[in-house]
Amino acid sequence: MGTPAKTGAPVTLTIDGAAVTVPEGTSVMRAAYEAGIAVPKLCATDSVEAFGSCRLCVVEIEGRRGTPASCTTPVSEGMVVHTQSSKVQKIRKGVMELYISDHPLDCLTCSANGDCELQDMAGAVGLRDVRYTPGENHYDPTGTGALSAADAKGREGPGNFRYIPKDESNPYFTYDPSKCIVCSRCVRACEEVQGTFALTIEGRGFESRVSAGGAVDDFLSSDCVSCGACVQACPTATLQEKSVAELGTPTRSVVTTCAYCGVGCSFKAE
Ligand code: FES
Repeated sequence: MGTPAKTGAPVTLTIDGAAVTVPEGTSVMRAAYEAGIAVPKLCATDSVEAFGSCRLCVVEIEGRRGTPASCTTPVSEGMVVHTQSSKVQKIRKGVMELYISDHPLDCLTCSANGDCELQDMAGAVGLRDVRYTPGENHYDPTGTGALSAADAKGREGPGNFRYIPKDESNPYFTYDPSKCIVCSRCVRACEEVQGTFALTIEGRGFESRVSAGGAVDDFLSSDCVSCGACVQACPTATLQEKSVAELGTPTRSVVTTCAYCGVGCSFKAE
């Protein structure tokens, strides 16, 4: 939940009117979590260091200008935080609207339906409509990646969405760049959890996307060791186990760890 729990001297702050005491160095997001307050988030997760890129977790802090990201802001003594002011709610809704404007709206047929953090967060911030009108889009309405870019040209998606073919080269998981929100959780998991450095983000703006690099630019021919850390970290259906895509979302899971790697595999069963 943002920066991992710390063990420093106790710090007391107020979040949404409730006093909470946490160790020095704890993030505001984690302190809120300790107080039972869930701050919307997309790029933060417990398994990697906070990055502060999605701007969904912004809060207001009395005496401080702007709306800092709670996942990367450390607590301080006497701090007074507001996580649900009308200002931050409006900002979060606008941010989420931009994410959705660049994402396929195939939730009902998506294999991550019901197990997608983007979907959860859109609901959490109360997003109902996206104001941005479709432009020159390349949308695959089947959500399968079966259409070539040429076939998909002209098919409408929301706002700025562009269809990009799916990478199915890896035997264990698929990479669907059309569904990527560029939160970089996969890139950081590859580096911090597995120490492989196989992934990067290339391009800018709407063209930015996660890349496995290399001359051929697919997962199978990259430095990827198929550990699955990126798949575990992905908040959408962008990186997904092939078994989940084929069999649907499991209803139960058991998290285990072993000495082989730091991923923490989730063995799942229907
Ligand atoms: Fe804090 Fe993304 S969760 S900026």
